[in-house]
Amino acid sequence: MTSTLYTGIGELVTNDPARGDGSALGLTRDAAVVVDGDRVAWIGAAAAAPEADTRVDVGGRCVLPGFVDSHSHVVFAGDRAEEFAARAAGQPYAAGGIRTTVAAVRAATDEELLATGRRLLAEMRRQGTGTVEIKSGYGLSVEDERRCLEVAAQLTDEVTFLGAHVVPPEFADEPDSYVALVTGPMLDVCAPLARWIDVFVEDGAFDADAARAILEAGRARGLEARVHANQLGPGPGVQVACEQGAASADHCTHLTDADVAALVDSGTVATLVPGADFSTRSPVYPDGRRLIDAGATVALATDCNPGTSYTTSMPFVIALAVRECGLTPSEAVWAATAGGAAALRRDDVGRIVEGAPAALTVLDAPTHLHLAYRPGVPLAAPLTADDGRSA
Ligand code: NIG
Ligand code: FE
Repeated sequence: MTSTLYTGIGELVTNDPARGDGSALGLTRDAAVVVDGDRVAWIGAAAAAPEADTRVDVGGRCVLPGFVDSHSHVVFAGDRAEEFAARAAGQPYAAGGIRTTVAAVRAATDEELLATGRRLLAEMRRQGTGTVEIKSGYGLSVEDERRCLEVAAQLTDEVTFLGAHVVPPEFADEPDSYVALVTGPMLDVCAPLARWIDVFVEDGAFDADAARAILEAGRARGLEARVHANQLGPGPGVQVACEQGAASADHCTHLTDADVAALVDSGTVATLVPGADFSTRSPVYPDGRRLIDAGATVALATDCNPGTSYTTSMPFVIALAVRECGLTPSEAVWAATAGGAAALRRDDVGRIVEGAPAALTVLDAPTHLHLAYRPGVPLAAPLTADDGRSA
């Protein structure tokens, strides 16, 4: 194995509060990092750095953990640019648009699905993302959900079964039979292929009782829960997520005080995906300030999908979270790295600590503040390989 000394790091974001300035970001100035093979071997002051096989001077730039994008739907076919344009002209978003992508996925080959996933993962990687979660949910038959999960598993270890995205057209008159399929034969095939189970709790998707049944069935098969919650209006999604011990409730655009309290008490991470609020032209964005002030753990993710958030850019999401969700630039960077790791119950990513996999991102800027300060500018790029399992 060869070792590399990365030196001349103007600002190192470790997300280790025991380091540097003692903030949540554990900021260290004039730092160096030694990477040995695929692991972080040493972190410290540039002046005290040990020798290594090679030496890379990053010229005063900021280095931070690879972004952890804990919510994506990058296994799909087709696009919905026309639907986006119609929204821009005033049409509202409804959950039913998902069925357009379901038809395209059912008509696509495995190779086409894999090529799309790879293309979008490469886009993510180029913009500094190190770890990615990927959901099924555009197959919605036993065979098509299986295909989507097998494709996702070729791209990441963080695979989520989302058979409960919407009720597919062939079950429109008998939604209970679809829930029986998702909790029965579809789960039998899909549970071995996934780590997580997710449900879209929303008018036009699944109600609280169906969501409970689906999450309980998944948990009984060893899957861990996550929920699409409170995206398009107030509803029971967050409460169900917290009751079920979900790792994360995602969207959280419309929350009551009781929802915020439930997130704080349960420890379920509130994952904000403001790219979806942007693309659906939501009248409101999630109130991240209120969540953080109450003591909730907040993560940021792209929700990359062809309907509501066709972005792979964590820097874009960080900028939106600062402008629209009330996060400070530092909170947004934490939420996009350590927050995403918490939403995936991972402690080996989203931080730069000795012994952890080296998934380092470099900014063409002196501090992490520039991510929100310079929106739309491609500052972030991979410095080392990713976490080893999502590229
Ligand atoms: O996270 N909310 C549900 N699922 C996606 C939307 C998918 C679609 O419209 O295709 C989301 O926004
Ligand atoms: Fe989603």
